[in-house]
Amino acid sequence: MARLKVGIIGCGVIGSALAEAIEDRFSRSADLVAVCDLDEDKSRKLVDSLKAKPQILSIDKLIDISELIIEAASKQVSGDIAYKALQHRKDIMVMSVGGLIERQDVLRMAEGGKTHLYIPSGAICGLDGVKAASIGKIKSATLITRKPPRGLEGAPYIIDKRIDLKKIRSETLIFEGTASRAVTAFPKNINVCAALSLAGIGAQKTRVKIFTSPNYKTNIHEIQVEGDFGKLVTRTENVPSPANPKTSFLAPLSAVATLKNILDVVKIGT
Ligand SMILES: NC(=O)c1ccc[n+]([C@@H]2O[C@H](COP(=O)([O-])OP(=O)(O)OC[C@H]3O[C@@H](n4cnc5c(N)ncnc54)[C@H](O)[C@@H]3O)[C@@H](O)[C@H]2O)c1
Repeated sequence: MARLKVGIIGCGVIGSALAEAIEDRFSRSADLVAVCDLDEDKSRKLVDSLKAKPQILSIDKLIDISELIIEAASKQVSGDIAYKALQHRKDIMVMSVGGLIERQDVLRMAEGGKTHLYIPSGAICGLDGVKAASIGKIKSATLITRKPPRGLEGAPYIIDKRIDLKKIRSETLIFEGTASRAVTAFPKNINVCAALSLAGIGAQKTRVKIFTSPNYKTNIHEIQVEGDFGKLVTRTENVPSPANPKTSFLAPLSAVATLKNILDVVKIGT
């Protein structure tokens, strides 16, 4: 089998985990050919830590020489990167899923073409069941997220509403609304609701509740889905990544598992 040429955009927690996995786990089936980051120190540091020395390129050049592009940068650019990759008939994995919610053009292009758009489950479990359920009729889909206050710091909603996270003493409902509102209000925290929306009934119909409390030690995501099939409830208690408390440790693992699924001959799960 030909080796897959991979390019990674965003050399933070997730991008670095993928780069290391390509070197350590998938060295027989994939090559990391290029990386890119707004912050050149980050891309340089990543390249220096790897045995294989991928090129540091601009987004356009990276797309040009890669067969699979992995976006692990930000919601602001994920839609455009996915669009460009699909336009150039390249496969694309998107981690900043929130950036795809308003991008029907990207989803249409992916559906109409022969290349693949991969969206890892990230920090939630149960998308296999949601995908199966959506073949029938889904009545309701809700994501209930519980995060320690520091995991919500800097979110536009927290700033706009002048919420003083330090004053919160017990469990408090901070946000309730549609997934489509949640991705704008909490762009760095709520990719999971975008993934749930895309797998299920869309961002306008998917509901999101966000709680915080100084007593929370982990990021917890619960999914509740009801439909023709019955009821599905999952609860994932995530440990924050040591390098970035806003990213659950399961997210880089999920990205690596998606890459494994792409490269493996045996594919498990829905
Ligand atoms: N799907 C999920 O469940 C899930 C979970 C966690 C994080 N995420 C998302 O995945 C993305 C990466 O997460 P992370 O934890 O690795 O973040 P991180 O902050 O550790 O790394 C992101 C990197 O991308 C770089 N970057 C930002 N904008 C860029 C641009 N326009 N072009 C090139 N590089 C750019 C930054 O400099 C940084 O080095 C984020 O958008 C995050 O919100 C998704």
